[in-house]
Amino acid sequence: MPQDNSPDRFADLIVDDRRDARFKVNRRVFVDDAVLRAERDHIFSKCWLYLGHTSEVPKASSFVARRVGGRPLIFTRDREGTMNALYNTCPHRGAVVCRERSGTRRSFTCGYHAWTFDERGRLMGMPGREALPPEATEDCKLDLVHVERMEEFCGFVFVCFDRHAMPLVDYLAGAAEYLAYVADQGEHGMEVSRGTQDYGIPANWKLLQENSVDGYHGVPTHSTYFDYLRTRDNSTFDGSRARGWVKNLGNGHAVSESIGVIPWGRPYARWVPGWGEEARAEVEEIGRKIMARLGPERGNVVVNGDRNLIVFPNLVVNDIMATTIRTFYPVRPDYMEVTAWSLAPVGESPTSRDRRMRNFVEFLGPAGFATPDDVEMLEMCQRGYANHAAAPWNDISRGMLSNAPVKTDELQMRTFWRRWRQLVSGDPSLELTGP
Ligand code: FES
Ligand SMILES: [Fe+2]
Repeated sequence: MPQDNSPDRFADLIVDDRRDARFKVNRRVFVDDAVLRAERDHIFSKCWLYLGHTSEVPKASSFVARRVGGRPLIFTRDREGTMNALYNTCPHRGAVVCRERSGTRRSFTCGYHAWTFDERGRLMGMPGREALPPEATEDCKLDLVHVERMEEFCGFVFVCFDRHAMPLVDYLAGAAEYLAYVADQGEHGMEVSRGTQDYGIPANWKLLQENSVDGYHGVPTHSTYFDYLRTRDNSTFDGSRARGWVKNLGNGHAVSESIGVIPWGRPYARWVPGWGEEARAEVEEIGRKIMARLGPERGNVVVNGDRNLIVFPNLVVNDIMATTIRTFYPVRPDYMEVTAWSLAPVGESPTSRDRRMRNFVEFLGPAGFATPDDVEMLEMCQRGYANHAAAPWNDISRGMLSNAPVKTDELQMRTFWRRWRQLVSGDPSLELTGP
């Protein structure tokens, strides 16, 4: 008999049964407005969220406007060279003061009544200033408001709307090491390439976090891509071997990685036949230089490794055949907005950048060989959840009996869900570690 055994308490939406090695997620978490409200309050208002990369504000007066955790923000570098994260809302009547996506400017003028602010958010002037008392502008009272916290790690800049949050580096826990591997690709640092991918997916946001480290779906979902690789590279790769491993990095972050086995190579540092002989000398030279700079051990991880990293709650870094930074936010329980960028070493040669960008759009882009398949599958899941009352549970138990979980297991998702449950239920005693 079908039954709606949907729990009332948020903590009970996750079943973490270690004795029987079963892990279940109640499908209400993907459809319920009350769950989304709890996520806004306890996750998106409390966790560190990715704002942007330092390279996006490269010089004095550069700025980028974007939404983070549902809030419109302006990310600026002021004329003293300091980065700022400002709420993009006018202290007068609330209009967003910056309507451009990015650029360089020393002031922002609100379109409504023309109050003007500098790159630090300081009020510079307004028409008819004499109509307000002299003290109206004292103590920054009519300045743009700074986001409560902003910190950087290896070029990745995060904000947090909770002024009492732990320092970013503590929050990142083991994920910091992996962001550092990504940053180490570039001798002169990393930069976001021009251009942004913006798209929407009619599915719950958490499904994309799961999908981004899900090695189990590769072969069935992405058969078109593997067929294409076979044709292009004349390779015998079947994609079905579960190589590599997954790790809980603490605080809900996880990684799926391998070293030296991905057969389609790395665009900048590891040559495979698919690149063609003409690319061989350059790719191998890039690899040698990184090895010489970082030493054999770290160099091997950076040159030959691939990693899909999830930073709780909504940052993904796919460091595979290109490096993608991807973040997303729920507009509704069944709809998310996604933004993605390509990250590349500063000073990369035009040929290497070309290989990278082709990989970026070919596999990872919203019109590539992989992302549309993923989007479709997420949409199929979301449609299926209309049956959640009769068929209430997702099963995420793969690898719970394993001491060495691999990419096709689901430890990486359980890591996310354990942190999710701890935060939405407000019960810090709930376990974050486990099989
Ligand atoms: S709302 Fe910005 S100046 Fe009036
Ligand atoms: Fe996928």
